[in-house]
Amino acid sequence: MTLFLLFILYALALSFGLARTGLHAQVARTNGATHKRPSRLLIIGATGGSGRQLVTQALERGYVVTALAREPSKLHIEHPQLTVVKGDVLDYASVAAAMRGQEAVVSALGHKRYFYPTWILSEGTRNVLRAMQAHGVSRFVCETSLGIGDSAGRMGLYYTFFVIPIILPFYFWDKARQERVIAASNAEWVIVRPGVLTNAGKRGRYRFGARLGNFFGTVRISRADVADFMLNQLTSGAHLGTAVSVCW
Ligand SMILES: NC(=O)c1ccc[n+]([C@@H]2O[C@H](COP(=O)([O-])OP(=O)(O)OC[C@H]3O[C@@H](n4cnc5c(N)ncnc54)[C@H](OP(=O)(O)O)[C@@H]3O)[C@@H](O)[C@H]2O)c1
Repeated sequence: MTLFLLFILYALALSFGLARTGLHAQVARTNGATHKRPSRLLIIGATGGSGRQLVTQALERGYVVTALAREPSKLHIEHPQLTVVKGDVLDYASVAAAMRGQEAVVSALGHKRYFYPTWILSEGTRNVLRAMQAHGVSRFVCETSLGIGDSAGRMGLYYTFFVIPIILPFYFWDKARQERVIAASNAEWVIVRPGVLTNAGKRGRYRFGARLGNFFGTVRISRADVADFMLNQLTSGAHLGTAVSVCW
């Protein structure tokens, strides 16, 4: 019983920590203007589930896409408007080389090194933002997650009291730090916080806003719909400088 109570206290403390460390949407500086459509996109995390959706849908929308990948052979997408470059977000030189000539950056960076502290998301994103500044690229759309900042707890009880405290505490801590790094940058940024991701197809109908998610049940959305929303942010000013949640 004591152990159980201690665990609940730990899970609650972690949730409060993620709430404090992640971004609060009220610091946002939005404007509703439509922005000039960029034509050349750099996609980070392109070989992942969301990344593949971003690459596919960006090509369908007519963008000229550069995909940054640690192992380019993993992407398995070929298209005349697609260039795959080898790079690692932790290696600034490779990120800076990929940034040359780009007009916007979309990131679905993630990893599976859950069980020890890492700074891959925050330090990798810092490198991306530094390379953007060096090459005069301003628009940055980045996928993080519900459960951070003012969305803490909104992934539902199962995630708040099991998945995040037991499997993902280091990962989420780094994600919260990643949001702070983005918010402190000079980029024109949009943070996109999805619920639990699925590989279902694109519905094109989903909810988005600052106060979504659920404290009890788990909310979901497909990677395809997240990619759709993220790409929409390249031409919209509606969520600039905010962390916006998306779910079905
Ligand atoms: N799974 C969920 O239910 C869920 C819910 C909410 C939010 N999210 C977040 O959404 C994001 C996308 O998730 P996902 O499951 O679609 O993607 P994912 O399959 O985890 O893919 C992550 C991508 O990041 C790349 N990457 C990792 N370390 C890198 C490095 N050092 N340099 C360059 N690239 C690197 C991976 O490359 P490799 O192929 O080389 O590993 C991969 O392309 C993640 O941040 C995730 O935490 C996930």
